[in-house]
Amino acid sequence: MKLFDVYPLFNITPAKAQGSWLWDDKGEKYLDLYGGHAVISIGHSHPHYVKRLSEQLSKIAFYSNSVQNNLQVQFADKLGELSDYPDYQLFLCNSGAEANENALKVASFVTGRKKVIAFKKAFHGRTSGAVAATDNPKIVAPFNAGHEIVFVPLNDERAFDQALNNEVAAVIIEGIQGVGGIQLPDDTFLQYIQKKTEANGSLLILDEIQSGYGRTGKFFAHQHAGIKAHLITTAKGMGNGFPIGGLFIHPDIKPWSGMLGTTFGGNYLASVAGLAVLEVMEKENLIDNAGIIGNYWMNELKNLSQITEVRGRGLMIGMDLPEELKQVRSNLLFNHHIFTGEAKPNTIRLLPSLAITQEEAELFITALKKELK
Ligand SMILES: Cc1ncc(COP(=O)(O)O)c(C=O)c1O
Repeated sequence: MKLFDVYPLFNITPAKAQGSWLWDDKGEKYLDLYGGHAVISIGHSHPHYVKRLSEQLSKIAFYSNSVQNNLQVQFADKLGELSDYPDYQLFLCNSGAEANENALKVASFVTGRKKVIAFKKAFHGRTSGAVAATDNPKIVAPFNAGHEIVFVPLNDERAFDQALNNEVAAVIIEGIQGVGGIQLPDDTFLQYIQKKTEANGSLLILDEIQSGYGRTGKFFAHQHAGIKAHLITTAKGMGNGFPIGGLFIHPDIKPWSGMLGTTFGGNYLASVAGLAVLEVMEKENLIDNAGIIGNYWMNELKNLSQITEVRGRGLMIGMDLPEELKQVRSNLLFNHHIFTGEAKPNTIRLLPSLAITQEEAELFITALKKELK
């Protein structure tokens, strides 16, 4: 069977990985500053993570939801503590899109409404229709014809006010827009929409799937604005490559049996992977490291005159290059063996492991300066 050809791929086959480094099947070494779209949080093949997963695999691998799974409880406790949301409830699933689907479902269940405000250029996932094609009223009401979405520009208070009314179940916003080119909501805008959303009886959903998990120097990007959300979605960095998604749910929202569900979410291996990631993040102070290396990069990049704009926080950085320098990303890969990401054309995205070292960060700046000359 052939693979369904939907991804533009580089002709490089990773065969081994350690920390911020990858080796291909020919033994060539690469610095990975993209981590599979912000997935590699603690570094590739971290020994503590590999040990924890291997030990678990030798006991019980899967099976999750019909029996007590204490690992899920330990994972939730640790996550609540490190994220500073200890009083919230956690629903575990397998991906970012699923976490957002569940957030939208919860918002509709709680409010009885089905309108959603989202922001232009945001990205929340690639699912559609599964719930709409299900007629079990316990699962789908009150949004069985799907949600109705209104898009407004980011950081535009007037447009937001115009869209907000008593039919709105939820407002969904990324902590920092990733796929949309690393666009930051202003702290004041986040504070504004939090206040307005709450006063309107709607729920605020913070999509921290890419911007969360310590990447910006705080556990979640929205915490820089000093706000709290009713629902927070997370995925990517949670499992350092093991597929895990999570939904944080405000303590006032009461669950009922069957309200949400999943086959694989929170299975034993996922829970151990998630726990191991948090243990390493805590022991190695990776959130602080993300802030420190991120500041170093931001300062260096702002001094490079060929870069038209640099945006970001911590280790979530986007830089715009002029049209004539659009080759820089592939030159970094083929001339210097450095993987980066891209967003819109000519925006290079940096989303490395939170464990990246100062020396590794300097290698990138040296290579970039050579390519910009
Ligand atoms: C902000 C954001 N939300 C949701 C998703 C969807 O996550 P997944 O691909 O795990 O379904 C992504 C993926 O890139 C994302 O960046």
